[in-house]
Order: sequence, then C-alpha cells, then structure tokens
Amino acid sequence: MKYIPFNRSDIHGTELEYLKQAIDNGHISGDGIYTKKCNSLLEVELGINKALLTTSCTHALEMAAILLGIRPGDEVIVPSFTFVSTVNAFVLRGAKPVFIDIRPDTLNMNENQLEGLITEKTKAIVPVHYAGVGCEMNIIMNIANKYDIPVIEDNAHGLFGKYENRYLGTFGTFATQSFHETKNFSCGEGGALLINDEKYIERAEIIREKGTNRTQYFRGKIDKYSWVDIGSSYLPSEILAAFLYAQLEQRELIQANRKKIWENYYEQLNAWANENNIRFPIIPEYCEQPYHMFYLLMPTLEKRNLFIQHLKKNGIMAVFHYLPLHLSEMGKKFGGKVGDCPVAENISDRLVRLPFYNDLNIKDLNFNYFYDF
Ligand SMILES: Cc1ncc(COP(=O)(O)O)c(C=O)c1O
Repeated sequence: MKYIPFNRSDIHGTELEYLKQAIDNGHISGDGIYTKKCNSLLEVELGINKALLTTSCTHALEMAAILLGIRPGDEVIVPSFTFVSTVNAFVLRGAKPVFIDIRPDTLNMNENQLEGLITEKTKAIVPVHYAGVGCEMNIIMNIANKYDIPVIEDNAHGLFGKYENRYLGTFGTFATQSFHETKNFSCGEGGALLINDEKYIERAEIIREKGTNRTQYFRGKIDKYSWVDIGSSYLPSEILAAFLYAQLEQRELIQANRKKIWENYYEQLNAWANENNIRFPIIPEYCEQPYHMFYLLMPTLEKRNLFIQHLKKNGIMAVFHYLPLHLSEMGKKFGGKVGDCPVAENISDRLVRLPFYNDLNIKDLNFNYFYDF
C-alpha cells in the first residue's frame, strides 16, 4: 500500500539555486531582487497595474480592508463557504460580515442574491473563485458598479484561471493571491495583493511597510522615511520570494502536470461516480480553471465521512473543506443561523477533496480503493 498524502510541497528546479543567490546577494529582507521579479512577473503575465508580494493571502486581504477604509458599522458581503481569512480581514477592521449563499454548480457566490443583500452600509463585495473557477464576474461587477461598491476578488485558488478569457484577479479593485504550501505555486507561506486601481498603489506600499514611506525612500524620492499612516509588516523575506520565483518561472510545466492529474481523476472516476450518484466539479465553458483542486460531492454526509475513512484505511488522504462560516462560533455572534445559506450547508457536508499536488504520480493511486467503496 502506497501512502498518498493530501498535499506535499515540492521543488521544480531552480528553487535552491535562487535561495543561494538571494543569500549570496547579502540581502534577505523584503523587496529585494526576487520580490521585484515576482511582482513584475505577476504584473506582466496578468496585465495589471501593480502586484505586491505579501506574507500571505490573509495579509493581502487585511491590506485591502485597510485601503478601503473599512470601519466599525460597515458591512461586507462574503460567501459563507470560504476560508476564515476572507471574512476575518474585514471583521478585524470592525465590519459586519453579511453572508451570501453559493451556487450549487460552481460553489461560488450566488450572484442572484447579491443585490438583495446590499444596504447603505455595504462597503465591499468579496467573491471567492472556489477551486479557481471564476465567479459570475460580469453580473457581480455590474451590480458593484451600479452601487459604487468596491470588489475584492479572493483569488487564493485561482492564479492564471480565466473568466471569459480574462484572468481572474483583474476584475476587482483588488485581488488577493495565496502562495501557501497547498497552492499550485508556493513558498510555504506567502501571498500577493493585486491592485487594479492605481489610485491605491502608493498607500498600499506604505501600509505594507509598517505605515512608513520607506519604499519611496528606497526609490530615492525622499531623503528620509518616517511614519505616515497605519500599517504593518506585510512584506515577505527574499528567501521566500526566491523560492516562489523559481516556481512561478515553471508555471507552464506545473500547470500542465496539474491538468494531467485532474484529467486522470476525471477519466478514472467518471463511470464509478455516475453509478454512485457522486458529482464532479462543474466548470462552465467560459471559465478556464487552473487545476487547483479535484473534489467530489458525495450523496450524503454519512457517505462522505465513510468514504474519507475508507480511503484513509488504504493510505489515501482525502479531506473535507470549509465549514459554513455563518454557523461557526464567530458567525453565530454575527447572527448566523441554520438555514441562512442552505446550499453552503448542504455542500459542506458532502464535499471531499482528493490528493492533489504538483508531483503526484497518478500511477501511485490504486483506483480499486475507490471502486470498492
Ligand atoms: C479562499 C481562501 N482565501 C484565503 C486563504 C488564506 O490564504 P493564506 O494561507 O495564504 O493566508 C485561503 C487558504 O487556503 C483560502 O482558501
């Protein structure tokens, strides 16, 4: 029996060489050569104004909340089916989360419910591109523009995914990326803030540098730097940036590998899934997914839990995903109750993610363990 973890970090080629180079450069704090290389690779590839590497997606979301001036009493519309950081970043600024349910097909924010949740207090809308499959951005952006509410795309899963031929992360005022170990491209812990509205660039650089104008000082624009705004330490070290840059450089290879893994799961499990009332991810034809995740929707919670145990017994580590945030201890403090987001509640019980990492050798997976469930 071969042990297949749910996730594993890996090296693609030049990571160690670049790490050594960063150290040899004698500069391993932030905003050195490799940080700039990562920022500019993202800017050029995605065709955006500004990308700033951060210490995590969580921190990029916190920066976005500060940049938008989120304050106590504000409301932010977020899906209930997401990672806690999507919401926490705004709650930290005093906002009240207004939870929106998800669509049963893509598991993304249900755009049909969006307009009904907007009030005078709504200060941000945060779509999450679940599994890197695009939310209905045309509709979401139309509604956001109609009410003049900024959109922050939580694109933790979706780097290089597309919606109607346009990169995810390029629609909202901001987008946030994750380079956590579980993502397609990683440096262990890391993230990026993508800034599509250039009026926020200068302040973003200040907030990321502990509230100082140090970035302008390094550019030679001022002769000393000082405290000019609120901020924190959102700047990753060059060690992380060097590792990440090696992975971003290999993006085509990494994505091609992941595509193969995804398609293999699809082919091997399709007939079995159909026979057993198990649903696959649904990718609308106008969305290009970045092959971040392969999940199954089992018929019931009981079956899902038995299935996870069954695979585990056979050395395959499959895992569930988000618990609906409106029903969490914190969510209930904001008034969340059973039945508020019925699709999220139902999906969360039935979803299971299969092992998925860049160097997963699908031949190591014995699909008989799936078929005999
Ligand atoms: C949708 C979503 N947003 C944000 C995050 C947080 O990312 P990070 O670990 O880089 O802070 C995650 C984590 O996986 C996530 O799934």
